[in-house]
Amino acid sequence: MACVPTPVFLANRLTAIEPGRHPRSTTAQSTKSIEHALEAETQSLTESILEHVYENGRRYHRQSQGKYELPSDETEQDRLDMTHAFFLELLDGKLNLAPLTRDPPNVLDCGTGTGIWALDFGDKNPDSTVIGVDLAPIQPIWVAPNVHFELDDLEKEWLYPEDHFDLIHSRHIAVGIKDWQHYMYQMYKHCKCGGYVEIAEHSLESLYCDDGTMPPDSVLNKYMATLATSLEKMGVSPHHKLADYKRMLTAAGFVDIQAYVFKLPIGAWPKRPKLRRLGAIMCNIAVTGFEAYGKALMTNYGGIADKEVSDMIDDCVRVMYSAEQHVYILHWHIVARKPE
Ligand SMILES: C[S@@+](CC[C@H](N)C(=O)[O-])C[C@H]1O[C@@H](n2cnc3c(N)ncnc32)[C@H](O)[C@@H]1O
Repeated sequence: MACVPTPVFLANRLTAIEPGRHPRSTTAQSTKSIEHALEAETQSLTESILEHVYENGRRYHRQSQGKYELPSDETEQDRLDMTHAFFLELLDGKLNLAPLTRDPPNVLDCGTGTGIWALDFGDKNPDSTVIGVDLAPIQPIWVAPNVHFELDDLEKEWLYPEDHFDLIHSRHIAVGIKDWQHYMYQMYKHCKCGGYVEIAEHSLESLYCDDGTMPPDSVLNKYMATLATSLEKMGVSPHHKLADYKRMLTAAGFVDIQAYVFKLPIGAWPKRPKLRRLGAIMCNIAVTGFEAYGKALMTNYGGIADKEVSDMIDDCVRVMYSAEQHVYILHWHIVARKPE
């Protein structure tokens, strides 16, 4: 496989959210024509990119429709930031498990969300340049100089240089990727030789229980089955497991695949203190997470009435808080290397 780094950083099709391009940051522009051009540009930003759709009391981003059915409102942004805190706790404060020996020069954070991982990574690795990319503009405007946010659909062809990124990080984007194999081919193409990809995903198909406390007719089972059917109707596979991610990474060309498997409790039911603490944080994440994942998907794709979905979500939250059903999700943290 040819592995010649491309020296030129091509401008991506993406819209970069940088201070100089933001509507509130145009004072440095000197000529009227530039002001006019910028105004036109920022106007189209406002019209086409910063548009939202309001549905069932939640705010969704218009660009995400048909691609990613979770909301992007403040409640969801709080949930994403809490999930980040959860992962810091799980990984003992680490942001990555790839064996990095120095600040990797070029880093891509796929589906960056609020950008919290990208910002933390840029802070810890000042010699890295970090790009966070997402469908929705929910990242902060003013950020450290080594962190940049861009808007794009990662399922489209990436316009980054080939063999460019030393680290490509992708966490919890599964419900926004229909063609995972193509996504991994693109990761391979744009990863530097000797560079790493790091993928963090969890089971979407079902919840697990090892001690029989979750009855077959549990509302949690019903929720997961309905979610899986709705995702399938949308064209997203809820069935990918660790072996599938490994197989697709191998097919893309990656080697030295390391997988870390975690059982993440939903609810504060475990006895061991660290797991109990994680379960309690997960409870706070899931209290809005059941709705974030399920509401739009189940009503728009699953064909289920709004009231029925709301009742199911309320039941899930109640069961979770009771901590009577000892359920968990499987979480996979996968690190792979592009050969030299
Ligand atoms: C569950 S959030 C995870 C955010 C972040 N990775 C984290 O762990 O904090 C998933 C994010 O991926 C973005 N996303 C989903 N599908 C995408 C796609 N096809 N292209 C770009 N971003 C996408 C969503 O807009 C959302 O912000």
